[in-house]
Amino acid sequence: MTLIDIHLTPDYAVRALREDARAGLTAEPKWLAPKWFYDARGSELFERITRLPEYYPTRAEREILDNRSAEIAKLTGAHTLVELGSGSSEKTRLLLDGLRDHGTLTTFVPLDVSETALREAAAAIEADYPGLVVHGVVGDFTAHLDKLPGDAPRVVAFLGGTIGNLIPSERETFFASIREVLEPGEWLLLGTDLVKDPATLVAAYDDSAGVTAEFNRNVLRVLNRQLGADFDVDAFSHVAIWDAENEWIEMHLRADRAMRVLIPEIGLEVDFAEGEELSTEISAKFHRYGVEAELGKAGFTPGAWWTDSEDRFALSLWQAV
Ligand code: AVJ
Repeated sequence: MTLIDIHLTPDYAVRALREDARAGLTAEPKWLAPKWFYDARGSELFERITRLPEYYPTRAEREILDNRSAEIAKLTGAHTLVELGSGSSEKTRLLLDGLRDHGTLTTFVPLDVSETALREAAAAIEADYPGLVVHGVVGDFTAHLDKLPGDAPRVVAFLGGTIGNLIPSERETFFASIREVLEPGEWLLLGTDLVKDPATLVAAYDDSAGVTAEFNRNVLRVLNRQLGADFDVDAFSHVAIWDAENEWIEMHLRADRAMRVLIPEIGLEVDFAEGEELSTEISAKFHRYGVEAELGKAGFTPGAWWTDSEDRFALSLWQAV
C-alpha cells in the first residue's frame, strides 16, 4: 500500500527558488543554496559523483550500513523507517533489509521535496518489499518534520553527510526540531563525513574528471531554465577549498570575466566582477566529540558510533531522551 501526503503547493519550489536567488545574488558575497543543484541533470551528476574514485563518502557509508544494518534493527526494534531525502537508493535498501529481516518493520516513510522523485522511489520500494506500508511525504525537511507518520518506535535516517550542508546554527535548529517530533525512546540515524587530511577532502570535491565542476555549474543552468536567467555557464570556474577554521569544504563558482546577468523573472540584473566568487555549497566535516555535543544539546543520548574500515565516515545512532 502506498500513501502520499503533500505538504507543499505545486509552485513551492519555484517560489522558494525565486526568493533564494534574489536574497543570495543581491548579497555580498553572493551565494546560492545547495538544494538547487538537484534538478534531473543535477541528480544524475550527483549519482556520477558517488561513483568517482575520489568521492569516498558514499562507499564508506555503504560499507558501514552493510555491516551494521542488522545491529541497527536489533538495537532499535524499529517499526517505522523515516528517510529524509532520497528514498530509492541502495543504502535505503540495506536498512530496509536489516529491519525487515529482524521482523519489526511495518512502514517506510520517505520524505522528499520532489513529488516525482518521491513517487518513483515509493513505487520501486513497494514493488520489492511486499506487505510494507509506504507512506511518502512531499515536504521540506527543514519545515515539515511535524507531519511524520508511522507507528513507534521510529528511526529517522539522515544519511549521506547531507547534514554538512547546514552551518552550526542551522544544525542546532534542525536537530532540535527532529527531537521535538520524536517520542522519548525513538531514534535518529545520522551519517557524517569526518575531518581528515585536506588533500583527500579537496580531491573529493574537485575530481580529475570534472564531474563535480559540472555539478556545481549546473546550478546556473537551473536558474537559466527556471527563472529565465542568461548565465553564460561556461564563463564560471569550479572552486573547492578546505576552510580549516570552520572545518568545512566550500564550493564556489568564479566568474572568469566581468559580466552582467539578467534574471527577468525576478526583475534582477546581477553584476559580476572578473574573479568574483559565488558561494554554492558548504560541506562540513565532523569529529566525534562535536557530533556528541550537538546531539546531546538537542536532547539525544548516544546509541552507537560506527565508522568504515578507514575511519573516513561515521554512522551514529541517537535515542530521544
Ligand atoms: C549530498 C550534500 C552529501 O556534501 O558531499 C558532493 C554533495 N557536493 N560533491 C556532499 C556534494 C559536491 C554532498 N551531499
